[in-house]
Amino acid sequence: MSKNVSDHTKLAHLSRDEEVLQGAVNPPVHRASTILFERAEDLYSSKPKRSYGIVGMSVHDSLREAFCTLEQAYSVVLAPSGLAACTMPLLAICSAGDHVLLSNNIYGPTRRFCENHLPRLNIEFDFFDPENSNNILEHIKSNTKAIFMESPGSLTMELTDIPAIVAVAKGRNIWTLVDNTWGAGWFLKPITMGVDFSIQAASKYPCGHSDVLMGTIATGSKKADKVLQRFDTDSGNFVSPDDAWLVLRGLRTMSARLERQQTSALKVASWLSQHPKVAQVLHPALACHPDHQLWKRDFTGSSGLFSFLLHPTSEAQVFKILNSLKYFGLGFSWGGYESLAIHCDPQLIRTNPKWPDQGNIIRLSIGLEEPHDLIADLSQALNI
Ligand SMILES: Cc1ncc(COP(=O)(O)O)c(C=O)c1O
Repeated sequence: MSKNVSDHTKLAHLSRDEEVLQGAVNPPVHRASTILFERAEDLYSSKPKRSYGIVGMSVHDSLREAFCTLEQAYSVVLAPSGLAACTMPLLAICSAGDHVLLSNNIYGPTRRFCENHLPRLNIEFDFFDPENSNNILEHIKSNTKAIFMESPGSLTMELTDIPAIVAVAKGRNIWTLVDNTWGAGWFLKPITMGVDFSIQAASKYPCGHSDVLMGTIATGSKKADKVLQRFDTDSGNFVSPDDAWLVLRGLRTMSARLERQQTSALKVASWLSQHPKVAQVLHPALACHPDHQLWKRDFTGSSGLFSFLLHPTSEAQVFKILNSLKYFGLGFSWGGYESLAIHCDPQLIRTNPKWPDQGNIIRLSIGLEEPHDLIADLSQALNI
């Protein structure tokens, strides 16, 4: 498909191989472990594309191709969850004696994986302040192998100057990784900025219906692809064809959902920013956000996830607010068609600099409901 075609058109038409579809609009769910060979001579030949189901069937190929186009990547590896997609490339590229730099705002379970398992493998790690990428050089050591970013952070919404970090990393042979779940491969294209691995929790916007766990790792070069594919093959990584089918189906409507969620989230965020009980709205597309200029430079839009800070209040009051919401479900994850809310404080783990204890943060994932209904719901809850 021509590069000049819009992403909207691409999402509707790519990965629709007529030979596989046989007239249908969507591909079949193709389940397989054993692949039969016609001749014994071919069993151990390196030629066949598939010798065992673990490499995936046509539905996996279609999904990989779709993400590859969306992320403008060299290749894409699918993983059984977003978290697995964050940890896999680290395991693929790092060896004993290496050092990894982690953004201080990375997804909590990614942080937990690094804290619990990297030391066991004799891999060191440190954190850097995502909003202070200018001093990244101060954190780099002679054995730094990778820099892991998440922009914006999915709770506190700080942005990282990705091109600035890439510029420092490239000259030093350091791999760069970005958790691109908020940008969804739609609003941010890290590979085009020179990032080596763009990671998504496809469980969020690509799936869009809160019923599949999946991750994607897009690679930026043949070199990155080689190191990741090796680990993918050797570790037995696999996602089910049913899940691949569901995510491919979700991806077809992602642009329409994201456009509505973007508009609705901005309406809700703007309303919250005027509310007397709200100290600050953490949404990078609002002009008052400290990283707004960076967002304007690097992103083409904003998704439906943002947070807000209440003026200091008791935990009991925060629970009261959350418990009185009617249209916001209380639950983890985000990017589905239904709105969700959580309080973030128990998850706000930060190392050097620590998260300043400024009040209680509530995170909202805005779904497809009418924004006026969501605002009315928040209004009654905040006035409780
Ligand atoms: C930013 C971010 N990355 C990764 C993940 C992990 O995704 P999954 O739930 O599919 O493991 C999440 C999940 O909430 C997330 O918010």
